[in-house]
Amino acid sequence: MTQMTIRRPDDWHLHLRDGAMLGAVIDDTARHFARAIIMPNLVPPVVTGAEAAAYRDRIMACVNPSHGFTPLMTLYLTETTDPDDVAAVAKSGLINAVKLYPAGATTNSASGVRDLDKVIVVLEKMAEIGLPLCVHGEVTDPQIDIFDREAVFIETVLDPLRRRVPDLRVVLEHVTTSDGVDYVRSGGANIAATITTHHLFINRNHILAGGIRPHYYCLPVAKRESHRRALIAAAISDDGSFFLGTDSAPHLDAAKLMACGCAGIYTAPNTMSCLAHIFEAEDALDQLEGFTSLHGPGFYRLPVNEDRITLVKQDAPVIYPESRATPDGPLTIFDCGTPLYWAVQDAK
Ligand code: DOR
Ligand code: ZN
Repeated sequence: MTQMTIRRPDDWHLHLRDGAMLGAVIDDTARHFARAIIMPNLVPPVVTGAEAAAYRDRIMACVNPSHGFTPLMTLYLTETTDPDDVAAVAKSGLINAVKLYPAGATTNSASGVRDLDKVIVVLEKMAEIGLPLCVHGEVTDPQIDIFDREAVFIETVLDPLRRRVPDLRVVLEHVTTSDGVDYVRSGGANIAATITTHHLFINRNHILAGGIRPHYYCLPVAKRESHRRALIAAAISDDGSFFLGTDSAPHLDAAKLMACGCAGIYTAPNTMSCLAHIFEAEDALDQLEGFTSLHGPGFYRLPVNEDRITLVKQDAPVIYPESRATPDGPLTIFDCGTPLYWAVQDAK
């Protein structure tokens, strides 16, 4: 196959930041994707409906209108979030999910949740109204090895929480382990998982073997190869519980290339090329549309996109720039380590 047309994809987990960075990155997503779930971990975080509305307006002011892009907003769950506020904002149609960051788990998570008991009434309200909870699934206990934090979270936090609030609809974000894949696969209709582009390409050797590569550092950190294989198997299956959430997370090179660099990989520009490559390598191009364009709307109970994109396989590799220029310096684009031949044609 050298050409394929699929429903326009959505990105179910995206960081757009704010200010100059927002302006520099937004069109990389809007060019290919119809909608994206926008992460609320700004400084300060997006906690109230008014803040989400203002952030949505700033996004819309930056995006090229010809792309026809719609941001799907989220609220950042804190221990003082009011359940009735969440219900009112959801009813207004402004938000499509609430994000749970265990405090200290990742970038700008300091205002997140330390004690789940303090947010249980919010989660019960969300279960009642069917509003999904997006979860950063890692424990923060410094005693727990960083490569085990997802599996331990599932066993000690996520599963007990779902038993306590069984109707809560949960997205285990950026799943990185076979433990997570197995849990979601067998977890019934109220749980799904997003899978990133980069976790389909890299394992922990890419970060650490032969030199340390900060541009491959993200959270949750990539695991060993057997886990990457489990993610690929989930992504290319026709199981509607798994869908694309790129977690494209721009940080300036200056913030990554230092003694203590930031976590995050910027995949928005070349995600569709990368995905077509890996699905083809798995002889599963026929599953790409499900992963990028059908399964996510199914879980979020939204219509699928009516417009289409066409991917074309070129004879020569597609050349992506190494980085995007921003007013504050360069931002490195994900290097998946292999030449890419699939390109999105006539990108809007
Ligand atoms: O690598 C990551 N970067 N993981 C996250 O959970 C947050 C994100 C960011 O905001 O930079
Ligand atoms: Zn993220």
